[in-house]
Amino acid sequence: MALLQLQHVTKRFGGLVAVNNFSTELQAGELCALIGPNGSGKTTIFNLITGIYRPTEGEIWFDGHNITGRRPDQITRLGIARTFQNIRLFSGLDVLGNVMVGQHLRLKSDPASAVLRLPHYLREERAMRDRAQELLEALNLAHLAHEKATALPYGQQRKLEIARALASNPKLLLLDEPAAGMNTAEAEELMAFIQHILERFELTIFLIEHQMRVVMGICPRIIVIDYGEIIAEGPPATIQSDPRVIEAYLGVGTYA
Ligand SMILES: Nc1ncnc2c1ncn2[C@@H]1O[C@H](COP(=O)(O)OP(=O)(O)OP(=O)(O)O)[C@@H](O)[C@H]1O
Ligand SMILES: [Mg+2]
Repeated sequence: MALLQLQHVTKRFGGLVAVNNFSTELQAGELCALIGPNGSGKTTIFNLITGIYRPTEGEIWFDGHNITGRRPDQITRLGIARTFQNIRLFSGLDVLGNVMVGQHLRLKSDPASAVLRLPHYLREERAMRDRAQELLEALNLAHLAHEKATALPYGQQRKLEIARALASNPKLLLLDEPAAGMNTAEAEELMAFIQHILERFELTIFLIEHQMRVVMGICPRIIVIDYGEIIAEGPPATIQSDPRVIEAYLGVGTYA
């Protein structure tokens, strides 16, 4: 059975149809890209999967659960983590602290135990710190553990966001334009990093990207949307030569 299924999902904002009858499946272990021009509905699809928005029509299933209309925290707990199009790091915390925030929803102790610093809370906190450190080591970010997160170079901040998402131990990772604002070399390095974590953490990854060439080298399957509808789906070679894809991109002038 597929890990993630979207079945005829539609999202309307007033008169605007942001996502229109969108259906797809992601199998466990897959790395799949979602591409499309500005405003084509990519982020809205992530917001529907993570429970920020409720679909106007259709159903979303994850790991055997119907998650349509569930709260974001419930969905996170089932094993879906994400990053955002605009970096969202805690400026008051160091790198390690930012990763620990990502683990927080897994903490078993109640808030009162945390305030009273009861022994079982302190044990949990120590375990969290150790795990965050391990995660940074696995991602080759350990040398940055005590740097202020927002003082890092842009590319490292993007990786830290991914590390924080991984801290909740997800089965499915949603990455919203992680290579935005990067040059070609930086984007290539980030894609290698994404490939590495896919294998290292036995993940399934759904990756939003604006430009096809960035994901062509690592994503065996690409879904292209325009005006909230799938216009093409398949391996990079097929997508690249699809007349509807070329037209959609030529229309906004971003396809190189
Ligand atoms: N909360 C909202 N209320 C009203 N309209 C919205 C809302 N969220 C998104 N939209 C609209 O839905 C459409 C799809 O937006 P979305 O952010 O999903 O596009 P996108 O493909 O992620 O674009 P970009 O490449 O610019 O990030 C746009 O027309 C957008 O203005
Ligand atoms: Mg977007």
